Amino acid sequence: MVPATEHGTASDNSSTELSPNVPPSATAAVPGISQVGQAATEAADEPTAPSPVHAPSPPESIIEADDLVSLSNSQVSVTSSVFEFVHEHGHRYHRKPEALLPNDEFEQDRLDLQHHIFRMLLDGGLTHTVLLDDKPLEIIDIGCGTGIWAIEMGDDFPNASIRGIDESPIQPPWVPPNVTFEIDDVTKTWLVKGSSIDFVHIRTMAGCIPSWPDLLRSALSALKPGGHIEVADIMWHFECQDGSMKPDCASIQWADKFHELATASFHVDFAPSPKMAGWLEEVGFVDINVHTRLVPVGPWPKDKKLKEIGRYFLAQMLQGGMENYSMALFTKAGWTDIGVHAMLGDVRQEITDPRVHSFTRAWFITGRKAEEGGDHSLP
Ligand SMILES: C[S@@+](CC[C@H](N)C(=O)[O-])C[C@H]1O[C@@H](n2cnc3c(N)ncnc32)[C@H](O)[C@@H]1O
Repeated sequence: MVPATEHGTASDNSSTELSPNVPPSATAAVPGISQVGQAATEAADEPTAPSPVHAPSPPESIIEADDLVSLSNSQVSVTSSVFEFVHEHGHRYHRKPEALLPNDEFEQDRLDLQHHIFRMLLDGGLTHTVLLDDKPLEIIDIGCGTGIWAIEMGDDFPNASIRGIDESPIQPPWVPPNVTFEIDDVTKTWLVKGSSIDFVHIRTMAGCIPSWPDLLRSALSALKPGGHIEVADIMWHFECQDGSMKPDCASIQWADKFHELATASFHVDFAPSPKMAGWLEEVGFVDINVHTRLVPVGPWPKDKKLKEIGRYFLAQMLQGGMENYSMALFTKAGWTDIGVHAMLGDVRQEITDPRVHSFTRAWFITGRKAEEGGDHSLP
């Protein structure tokens, strides 16, 4: 282990045991986009939703509800940060006026918990893209947050070199020797040699990127011919199949209002995933694939693995997710702190009710830079 170039908090890297029960899967591609392969152990792939906020629910039941659920195992802990930034609404934010997400210890806890959710969704893996470790890989993680993904990639791929880039210095000082962190604004010109990178990883950057095509162009230029990109996110959009979540319920009202304000007041897109494949194609990527996974809100499913993912996702929402995403956005749009907390209280009550069977989806969009000489999509 060697110290990182920037100093931040230590993170809890404890891993999560996966349930052996894996439900059936299917991989769906966006119309007009090529499709290859499918992970043998995918939890569940769903057809691509046509709208970011109002995706129709599948016609038949895809998650069976358990009748007995407990919320008692939904706790994690990590250590706290000591940096000074802008403090508002009981949170600490990166010092820039348009910052909507905090970077304090609550948010860092949430990011690390969310990382465990992604690992569960990927059956313990770190990427949907299959990376071969037969040669040294140059990897960059755009908006690396606490650095947990980069550090675990460094452990799993000892021959690879991983650079995590983030505007907030919230990464730990001690990292594997093949991992470095840089503090930089990824919406500006990347300080990365052109055509030098094998894999670009971008995860949960919704709401942070003013122009996705511009960011994807930077990624394309940084990648070697044949290099891969993966953009992953979990949507703030709730669905239900059995009528247990009413159309006018608190969670749907909150998510609708959240996306409406983000777009209308701040011109930021917190639901870019359904558009990502189109942007990747527009800027010149090939072999673009879209994969989605079901993410239950709460431990209500009968399936053990989905139950575990739901338990963690609910914990993630309760332990910061809803509040961290809402406070700056709603108050900058004119709401009072009390008004936001009251709305979130209603959402909390609803999502902790095991009779409400709601879920959202994680998206993994993958692509490749064409080989030199005009290589196009794989058959
Ligand atoms: C929701 S977090 C995701 C962190 C990490 N990718 C993960 O999955 O755990 C978003 C991260 O993007 C960073 N970020 C936002 N805008 C950025 C920018 N313009 N340049 C660099 N980092 C940025 C934030 O500091 C934060 O750490």
